[in-house]
Amino acid sequence: MLNSIFACIIAYLFGSIPWALVIGKVFYHTDIRTKGSGNLGGTNAGRVLGKKVGISVIVLDALKTIPAMLISYYLAPKALIFAGLACCLGHCFPIFAQFKGGKAVATSFGFLLGICLFHRGEYVGLFAIPLSVLLITLYLSKMVSLASLVALFSACIMSLFLKEPISIQMSLFVLWLFVTYRHKTNIERIRNKTEAKITWL
Ligand code: G3P
Repeated sequence: MLNSIFACIIAYLFGSIPWALVIGKVFYHTDIRTKGSGNLGGTNAGRVLGKKVGISVIVLDALKTIPAMLISYYLAPKALIFAGLACCLGHCFPIFAQFKGGKAVATSFGFLLGICLFHRGEYVGLFAIPLSVLLITLYLSKMVSLASLVALFSACIMSLFLKEPISIQMSLFVLWLFVTYRHKTNIERIRNKTEAKITWL
């Protein structure tokens, strides 16, 4: 039990690394919280600082889930899913950035990748299909928020389709609800047809 709690705290700390803030401040002397949507994520980093930064932040935000889950895999394997979720939570409420973070899309994809990796590729469809859905929806709509929500919903459907353990199905559904809640202002803008479309992809 103690190991599980410890693994989740470590995962939360990994999730709390605000790559958009770090890269913006270190390389561009810019606090992206004061620019664009103010969101500490890859979309806003790309919007404010350009395509290369946006992609770098997305990749780094996704990959921070891997060491977080790796530590849990060895320390408390039964807590692996909770560690992945704790990492996503850390991204949204980062202890290193006054608890004001991003919307956990890239970290959710890192979580999907982690589930796949730590089950020896058994659930590769759980990562590959939502990623394809994300790219197709993004190509068609140019809205990262819409593409992200549709893609993460497809991950929930895939987990049912692949007959994955109930723990994974439940965690994905909870994560999708949480990410949807984080996108409430984006959803409002999508409904009003005022959501920003990306120009850098
Ligand atoms: O991942 C966040 C994205 O879906 C929307 O970000 O900056 O447009 O609110 P933003």
